[in-house]
Amino acid sequence: MNVWGNKIKISIFGESHGGGIGAVIDGIPSGLTIDTDFIKREMQRRAPGQNKLSTPRKEADEVEILSGIFDGKTCGTPIIGIIRNTNTQSKDYRKNLLRPGHADLTGLLKYGDSHDFRGGGHFSGRIAAGLVFAGAIAKQVLKEQGITIGSHIKQIHNVKENSFLDIDNLQKDLLAELTSKAFPVIDDTIGEKMQQEILNAAADKDSVGGIIECAAIGTPEGWGSPFFSAVESQISSIMFSIPAVKGIEFGRGFDFAEMYGSTANDPFATDGNKIFTATNNNGGINGGITNGMPIVFSVAVKPTPSIAKVQNTVDIEKMENTTIEIIGRHDPCIVQRAAVVVECAAALALLDAGLI
Ligand SMILES: Cc1cc2nc3c(=O)[nH]c(=O)nc-3n(C[C@H](O)[C@H](O)[C@H](O)COP(=O)(O)O)c2cc1C
Repeated sequence: MNVWGNKIKISIFGESHGGGIGAVIDGIPSGLTIDTDFIKREMQRRAPGQNKLSTPRKEADEVEILSGIFDGKTCGTPIIGIIRNTNTQSKDYRKNLLRPGHADLTGLLKYGDSHDFRGGGHFSGRIAAGLVFAGAIAKQVLKEQGITIGSHIKQIHNVKENSFLDIDNLQKDLLAELTSKAFPVIDDTIGEKMQQEILNAAADKDSVGGIIECAAIGTPEGWGSPFFSAVESQISSIMFSIPAVKGIEFGRGFDFAEMYGSTANDPFATDGNKIFTATNNNGGINGGITNGMPIVFSVAVKPTPSIAKVQNTVDIEKMENTTIEIIGRHDPCIVQRAAVVVECAAALALLDAGLI
């Protein structure tokens, strides 16, 4: 079943070259104000065809809200948003040649001849637009509670910038500034180098991946449960619904392996009122429960599978080994378009964790 969530339920639907794509969200309380211009801006952050760093496929990605919002407020009933596909070019896709790294083989294994392979079908990164629509609503509900979510590109290929965890007193203003950037990095000079890596890979008929680091500031203490509903589990489970996400770490994550307890631990401090931690190596979660510090996690995004370089594959009609050079319109790097998807998916996970 293609449904996610406990207190809210989300389903995303559509195929890349079908009639349209979108999401159904149930469980959002009634009477909450929703700004449709904000949804539009979030959709634009993911939309394709905006610059040389992304696929030239041009899609306006305008959402038509079919139900659940009336007079700018949630009705409490299922919210449905649909985005029509307008710019498809199905001739670029050949059913007999499997694209290495994509889901052509697994789609075929699961759905057989009924698998809509055009443009990656239901496995296309385009389907993530539904997550952005649903998450743009979740972000607004969380904002009313004082929670701000933002992200930056921490790494493209081997070019890296500092982590949110290295910033003393991470502020909402920085997250807001990052959200307004087409290429969200803290240090624009490093950002230039990252963009050059993407262009170099594209010129070489190749692609690159990277890391998106996401933060949620203002999350109340005490959200989540120790084991199966740990906030880490909830965030992780929805992150893997984003195509091309292959890893996740919370706080210092895999770097903990080379630290001592004395540097890994976050020392407690108080201003006489509140307890906080001097560092945030644990990324705002202990024992599966939020501790009031910013939630900080990173996801690894693999290089775009569809590349123009020659690769070995199988022709499934002839059952012969052969090669493939993928034509068509593809992102030389997915990371910059996926940043908003990660933020929106995080918003859905936090809303699910925090709704009473
Ligand atoms: C925003 C976004 C854009 C994507 N663009 C492309 C693309 O242009 N070409 C491609 O082959 N894969 C693209 N992908 C990735 C594939 O959809 C994904 O690798 C594929 O479905 C296999 O899933 P997996 O990588 O999670 O195993 C994109 C993913 C996202 C999130």
